[in-house]
Amino acid sequence: EGGHHVEKQDWSFAGVFGQFDQAQLQRGLKVYREACAGCHSMHLVPFRTLADPHGPNLSEGAAEQIASEYTVEDISNEDGQPFERPATLTDHFPSPFPNAAAAAAANGGAAPPDFSLIAKARAVHRGFPGFITDAFAGYSESGPDYIFALLQGYTDPPEGVEEVPGKYYNPIFVNGQWIAMPPPLEDGRVEYTDGSPETVEQYSADIAAFLMWAAEPHLEERKQIGFRVMVFLLVFAVLLYATKKKLWRNVE
Ligand code: HEM
Repeated sequence: EGGHHVEKQDWSFAGVFGQFDQAQLQRGLKVYREACAGCHSMHLVPFRTLADPHGPNLSEGAAEQIASEYTVEDISNEDGQPFERPATLTDHFPSPFPNAAAAAAANGGAAPPDFSLIAKARAVHRGFPGFITDAFAGYSESGPDYIFALLQGYTDPPEGVEEVPGKYYNPIFVNGQWIAMPPPLEDGRVEYTDGSPETVEQYSADIAAFLMWAAEPHLEERKQIGFRVMVFLLVFAVLLYATKKKLWRNVE
């Protein structure tokens, strides 16, 4: 069976005060566009969210520019006929394939899954105490750990294990060791302008963080609210205790 050991990474967004690293999200976006978008859609993510201050925080112009590089299908108001046009800020990252059958046919029968929620869909069970922190957060941060490991998990099959045609050996893959996705990354594949290393390891971390943001765009706000709720409850508990002391001071 697959789902080999996945190591926990030190994500900037982990923990109670975790926040996305904006530069990392921007690099991850670049990896997505240049190395993944040829196969994987991101149907729930509108281009306008690329300008989200809690996300990649691009300028609206830059987000618009990226949108315009994608083609989406629309329906004409005049004659009801479908037609294609460049995407705008309100459109979502489209699929590179016309439909699921075509996506599967192009990939040896296994359609590349949509990326919108993949970081949550591939969260791995973390045991104790991971499941307690996960329960508090309402989700698991282990999805990016899995993606990070998977992208670097390609190796030659062990001696005596027979090759599977059209599949690639990767012991991290949860669904058996043979995955239909060819290794999508190699050193130097994506150019970085901020001096970060152009390595498979760095790309894998950046795309994993980006996919966490895609799946949990409100992670930062959610953590901030959670913290305020805890502070409120603490203060409230102290006040209640003081009130109880005062009300009962003459009894007994
Ligand atoms: C599956 C990530 C590029 C084709 C997946 C999965 C992830 C992923 C997380 C799900 C694995 C699972 O089910 O546990 C990425 C990333 C990419 C990338 C981060 C870019 C860096 C590509 C490219 C192709 C591709 C370029 C096509 C040539 C597939 C296919 C599957 C898949 C066919 C389904 C595999 C199976 O079920 O056997 N990918 N992918 N991916 N990907 Fe990619």
